[in-house]
Amino acid sequence: MGKIIQLPDDLSNKIAAGEVVERPASVVKELLENSVDADSKWIKLELEEAGLRMIKVIDDGHGIEADDCEKAFFRHATSKITDEFDLFRVKTLGFRGEALASISSVSQLTLRSSTGDQTGTEIVVHGGEVKSIQKHTKRKGTEISVENLFYNTPARLKYLKTIHTELGHITDTVNKMALSHPDIRFECYHNGKRIFFTPGNGQLLQVVQQIYGKKIAQNMLNVQNESLDYSIQGYIAKPEITRSNRNFISLIVNGRFIKNPIINKAIIEGYHTFLPIGRYPIVVLQINMDPYLVDVNVHPAKTEVRFSKEKELFDIVKQSVYDVLHRQTLIPSGAKQEKPKSTQTSLSFDPLENQVVYRKIENNLKILATVFK
Ligand SMILES: Nc1ncnc2c1ncn2[C@@H]1O[C@H](COP(=O)(O)OP(=O)(O)OP(=O)(O)O)[C@@H](O)[C@H]1O
Ligand SMILES: [Mg+2]
Repeated sequence: MGKIIQLPDDLSNKIAAGEVVERPASVVKELLENSVDADSKWIKLELEEAGLRMIKVIDDGHGIEADDCEKAFFRHATSKITDEFDLFRVKTLGFRGEALASISSVSQLTLRSSTGDQTGTEIVVHGGEVKSIQKHTKRKGTEISVENLFYNTPARLKYLKTIHTELGHITDTVNKMALSHPDIRFECYHNGKRIFFTPGNGQLLQVVQQIYGKKIAQNMLNVQNESLDYSIQGYIAKPEITRSNRNFISLIVNGRFIKNPIINKAIIEGYHTFLPIGRYPIVVLQINMDPYLVDVNVHPAKTEVRFSKEKELFDIVKQSVYDVLHRQTLIPSGAKQEKPKSTQTSLSFDPLENQVVYRKIENNLKILATVFK
C-alpha cells in the first residue's frame, strides 16, 4: 500500500497560512489590500493589543454579494483573475484567492458585507470552520474582524515579538499602504486611540507629512518622469536629510508596495556624491507601467516582483533622481526664498550638512568649468 495521502483541507489551509500570515501585520496587509481592491475611498483599521486580540478593517468599497460570502473563504477562490492571461496582467493587489482562507484558518473571523443594493451577510469562521451565516444590514461595504490570531497554532504565537514590535510592523504596513494610495482616507486606531490618519485627497506630499512630519515634507523634492514604458512620480528628500538605513525608501509599483534592491541601488546611485557615505535618503517613488511588464506572482507575501525590462527601469529611476538633485543645486539658494534678505549662502555647522554643501559647490564649479571651456 502506498504511503502518500491527500491532506485534509483544514490542514492544507494551515500550511498555506504559515506562508501568508506570519504575524498580525500580515493580516493587516491582506485586509487593507482587499479593501483597496474593492475601490474603497475610506478604510478604517481598529486594533487591540497590536492586533493579537483583534484586527478590524471597515471599508466603504463595493462589498461582497450574499452568494459569494462563503466562497470568499475557499482556497484559490478569487474575483480578481479568471485565467492565465489575467495572471500575467494583474491590476489588483490580490490575485491568489489565498488570504481569507489562510487568515480564517488561524483565527476567529467575522465578515459582514453588503453591495448596498441587497441585504448584507454576516459569516463567522473559527479555525477554518464556518460557524454561522446570517443576514445582516445593507450598509455598502465590508467589515472584517479577526480575533485571537494564532489561537490554534500556539507555536506561531510563541514566535511573535513584543506588542511594541508587532505594532511597529503594523504601523509600517499602514504607512506604506497610505503612501501607495493617497486618494484613500485611512484611519487607524490602537486600543481605542487614533494613531494615524490621512486626508485621502490624493496629495502624496500630505501623506508624507503625516508619516514623516512637516519638516521633512518641506524638504522633499518632486520627481516626475516618463518614458515609453514607465511613468515615475514621487518625492525625494534633499541630501541634507538622510537616514542610517534603507527603510525610508518606499517603492510603489502599480499601486503595490514592494521591496526591490535593484531600484534602491538606482536611487542611491542617482544621489551620487550628494549622499554622505553610509547614509540613505527618504524617498517615495510611485512607478507605473503596463502590468504585462511586471510579474507579481513571485513571493508568498506579494512584496517582491520581477521586472521584464529591469535595466531600462534602473536607468530611468537613476536618471530621474539625478536630474532633480542637479536642477536643485543649479538654483541659487537665495532664489528659492520668497524675500531674500541677503545673497550670501549661509553655511550650517552640522558636519554632515557641510559635507553636502561642499559637494554641491564642487559640482557647481565643475558645471561652470564645462560651460566656460
Ligand atoms: N473588503 C472586501 N471588499 C470586497 N470584496 C472582498 C473584500 N475582501 C475580500 N473580498 C472578496 O473575497 C475574495 C477573496 O479574498 P482573498 O483576499 O482571500 O483573495 P484575493 O484578494 O482574491 O487574493 P489574495 O489571496 O492574493 O489576496 C476576493 O477575491 C474578493 O472578491
Ligand atoms: Mg486579498
